[in-house]
Amino acid sequence: MDAKPQKSILFVCLGNICRSPLAEGVFAAVLAEKGLSDRFQLDSAGTGGWHVGSAPDPRSIAIAASHDIDISRQKARKVTVDDFSRFDLVLGMDSSNVEDLRQLAPATGRDRIHLFLEFAEGWPRDVPDPYYGGDDGFGAVYRTIREASDRLASRLAERMSLPESGQASSTT
Ligand code: 4NP
Repeated sequence: MDAKPQKSILFVCLGNICRSPLAEGVFAAVLAEKGLSDRFQLDSAGTGGWHVGSAPDPRSIAIAASHDIDISRQKARKVTVDDFSRFDLVLGMDSSNVEDLRQLAPATGRDRIHLFLEFAEGWPRDVPDPYYGGDDGFGAVYRTIREASDRLASRLAERMSLPESGQASSTT
């Protein structure tokens, strides 16, 4: 029997092509740096279905690649009711994602839903939607997600009593 504690996290935004694929990829990279990859299962999804089956937005792929993170093989999908039992944590990128998730979730799954930055850093703040903006919006989104992912991984490791490998880099 595998005695290793496991936690599953679903990152959610509106289209599942800009913010949540980046959050999944960045959080996976942070876990790898901390030696925690085998303790977590990650995925991402959108509350809207317009981009189902598509790769992430080229601007998200590019900002991730510039930090040696490959998110190009992800495929967009829509949140399902099953997600609220499959995942321990369902983290919305902004407060409207969280509202939509609360509408979709069965009552038993609602306590798994949190605003990503609030859950990671302790105060409520949105990851702004960069879809209709310029490329610079993606740089800001990357930095926000990177800092929050470092905090989130450390907080969860502490809560799960997992030692970190101490190889975490501070590059953002
Ligand atoms: P995301 O960004 O929610 O971060 O993936 C968006 C992507 C697509 C749309 C809106 C936001 N859209 O309206 O198609």
